[in-house]
Amino acid sequence: MEIHAVRGMHDLFGEEMDRWRTVESRLREIATSFSYQEIRTPVLEKMEVFSHTVGDETDIVEKQMYTVLNEGTEKLVLRPEGTAGFIRSVVEHQLQQTGHPQRFYYYLPMFRHERPQKGRLRQFHQFGAEIINDPSPEADAEIIAVLDQVYRSFGISEYEVRVNSVGCPECRPAYKELLKEYIRPNLDSLCGECQKRFERSPLRILDCKKPNCQGVVQSAPRMVNHLCVNCQGHHSTFLHALSAAHVKFTEDPNIVRGLDYYTRTAFEFTSDLLGAQSALGGGGRYDGISTRFGAKTFPGVGFALGMERLLIALEAKQAIQANPQSPVFYFAPLGEAAYHRLFPLSFALKRRGVPTLMAYEKDKGLKWLMKQADRLNAKYALLLGDDEIKHGKAILKDMKTSEQEMLDLHHLEESLMRKTT
Ligand code: HAM
Repeated sequence: MEIHAVRGMHDLFGEEMDRWRTVESRLREIATSFSYQEIRTPVLEKMEVFSHTVGDETDIVEKQMYTVLNEGTEKLVLRPEGTAGFIRSVVEHQLQQTGHPQRFYYYLPMFRHERPQKGRLRQFHQFGAEIINDPSPEADAEIIAVLDQVYRSFGISEYEVRVNSVGCPECRPAYKELLKEYIRPNLDSLCGECQKRFERSPLRILDCKKPNCQGVVQSAPRMVNHLCVNCQGHHSTFLHALSAAHVKFTEDPNIVRGLDYYTRTAFEFTSDLLGAQSALGGGGRYDGISTRFGAKTFPGVGFALGMERLLIALEAKQAIQANPQSPVFYFAPLGEAAYHRLFPLSFALKRRGVPTLMAYEKDKGLKWLMKQADRLNAKYALLLGDDEIKHGKAILKDMKTSEQEMLDLHHLEESLMRKTT
């Protein structure tokens, strides 16, 4: 019986894995250079972590969560996104109590039961960053600048940074009513999904991709024109800070995000390099979220990018090379005596941090061994047979130039180490 991986969940290996590792280390470098510290939260969280924050009526909570029953009763969820679990963890460990701004990043697998297609998976990976305890609009600009730096650092310029403000609990309810009044006469032309959203989440209609719905809201009133004084001030300082951080952006009144926790700044990075799933990453401010965990309110802002989508963009641009891990030395023993000499030496080198591989098969000839050294892309092959042992020598072959040199068998470890400097 053939058993396959779960639909929408992929194995990573070979050149693809090499590309991922290169990207992952770049992401960590960027996070470190912007002074963000890594945090890891568990894959499983209690259902309420998401239903209370991401929102009961969002696509994620309504239909995309993988749930697991804990001891037959308690509903646990495979995390569909990183922010809610992050805030749960901050509150649980009282990390916000210092009152000082703190910066965190995470790189974690996420799970959403969506219809798989290019760039849309059921297990995918997000790299995200969050700042807590900083209400300043400049923090919003910084978060966007970090995400912008990721694409810039890989030489990708084919993306747009779309920003908006979704207001706050003070100004959003009145805007919601205004929007509903505007849409109401055309309610029948909306898609079924948007008709359902109309009463409780009318803002989501703004980002529906269906042409009819887009037509209905094309000239709808804009949230940015109905912000309260505080949100207005925040938004205009944010836009200035973003320009000052040299990030190119466009204001897009339809960026409202598919998660309920946002206040004020909301943004998305989109790219034509991706095809239908054009969102490279997104995020925003979520100042009220902590109260849903029973904590006093503290400010937060962050982003998450989809790794798989970043990789698609990099491949489309051919901006990333696989960087295969190759051994420095491939040990090729010819015969039992050579095997016993080289086996311990291979471990001595590995322990000194030098990637060394050895053929364990004892019945293989020189041709086969050289083929392996070639296939593994080893820098050097070390050949040892009974004749060489008799003369106290080993042969080191440079696999690129095919040059060979004789090394003294009694000082082999040190001679090989010298080759690595
Ligand atoms: P999100 O927009 O739901 O935001 O997801 C962020 C990114 O994850 C998307 O832009 C996309 O690149 C990637 N992504 C989402 N779903 C999939 C999927 N099924 N397959 C592949 N990639 C996907 C959040 O998750 C928020 N937690 C972001 C945030 C952080 N807001 C504040 N802080």
